[in-house]
Amino acid sequence: MKYYELLSMLYDFEYKLAVMYEIFSKNYANDNEACALFSKMCTEEVNHSDAVKYLMRTVKGNAPGEVSVDADLGQMEAVIGKVDDTIKSELPIPVDEAVRFALFLENNSLELLYKTASAQVDPKFVRLVEYLNSGSTEHQAKIERLARKRGLLPEEAA
Ligand SMILES: [Fe+2]
Repeated sequence: MKYYELLSMLYDFEYKLAVMYEIFSKNYANDNEACALFSKMCTEEVNHSDAVKYLMRTVKGNAPGEVSVDADLGQMEAVIGKVDDTIKSELPIPVDEAVRFALFLENNSLELLYKTASAQVDPKFVRLVEYLNSGSTEHQAKIERLARKRGLLPEEAA
């Protein structure tokens, strides 16, 4: 896979998360807490996707964009597919399910980003992945807090 394609998949992932969180924030408009969290996460995912886009612009059509990177992104493709299905589904899923799914995604994205980071083709890419990772870690913590509050995850041991 070419470096540019890797970036474009990352872009897809971040951008589709933003779209999905926006849908969630609208679907659960009467649930203030969940709505506020999803809406904030949407804004942040937009920022993440912008950061990826920025790097894509700098490599597009240039030799670095054509470099082959060794990244197995089948898993990421599968995750993006799940996000797509959720975006396209006409019936909103129950809020608890949305919280669980968001948790699954943020957990997974950490792992996925970590894997792509092994394709250290470009120091800028390493910094980008660090930035995206810190975003996912933050999201993971926030969504976990909400999930615990709602009994979707066991209470943390004191
Ligand atoms: Fe993100």
